[in-house]
Amino acid sequence: MSELESEAMEAEFGTVAGWTEDAVRALGPEHAIPAGCRGSGSEGALRWLADGLDLAPGARVLDSGAGVGGPAGWLAAERGVRPVCAEPMAAAAGAGRRLFGLPSVVALGQALPFPDASFDVAWCLGVLCTTSDKAGALAELRRVLADGGRLGLLVFVADGPLSAPAPEGNEFPSEAELRALLRGARFRLTGTAEADLADSPPEWTERADAVEAEVARRHGDDPAFREAEEQSGRVGRLLSDGSLRAWLGVAVAG
Ligand SMILES: C[S@@+](CC[C@H](N)C(=O)[O-])C[C@H]1O[C@@H](n2cnc3c(N)ncnc32)[C@H](O)[C@@H]1O
Repeated sequence: MSELESEAMEAEFGTVAGWTEDAVRALGPEHAIPAGCRGSGSEGALRWLADGLDLAPGARVLDSGAGVGGPAGWLAAERGVRPVCAEPMAAAAGAGRRLFGLPSVVALGQALPFPDASFDVAWCLGVLCTTSDKAGALAELRRVLADGGRLGLLVFVADGPLSAPAPEGNEFPSEAELRALLRGARFRLTGTAEADLADSPPEWTERADAVEAEVARRHGDDPAFREAEEQSGRVGRLLSDGSLRAWLGVAVAG
């Protein structure tokens, strides 16, 4: 294993990321943002976070655990900033660079290759539950943010026992644990919300589905595809039976 905490995660976030890039190229660039956000939120969730982040023109913005760069690409297109993407899976980081033209580095969130206080804003979407070192990832986000900088989070939280197996390598915090971790890393929460993961326009969903179907057509028999489907299916089932919630938060670096 190279970087992540399970081989199943490497299939989902590495191999499938590369396939997603190929499918976007085949179907057209208007598919890039919806397909690139498949692993996280809806457009409504991105908008809620972006509104809370007080993005000034020229703000220095980091996306930690950026995946194939869909959320960062959305932020660039909608809010006129140029996020820097950090992502441990090289295939995903490369896809983000090529699809959205954004600066991308291969890095774990616990070891960001940036000086202290080099960003005004950061977001980290669907990432904290994929690492056991949540405190390390939050400490790094605090280190690279300037005092008073803002952090946006999408975290899948579980307040009780899960009804079915978690995706391999995932560890879902409770909301109370997450709040304590944020305090411990010197972040002050200023707003929270439940994400409605279905809150995207119909053409967004159609494009994301088209890319997924194209990936399935090309790679449906590959064990890595089946493994990634199983992983994302587990999250979907836990969300739909209420074991998991998609929690959004905006915090200020104190
Ligand atoms: C569910 S995906 C979300 C991707 C992207 N943020 C989005 O919202 O579309 C989780 C991402 O976290 C990355 N990841 C896993 N462990 C990480 C860690 N320790 N530090 C930073 N990123 C990590 C994975 O490679 C994957 O790209």
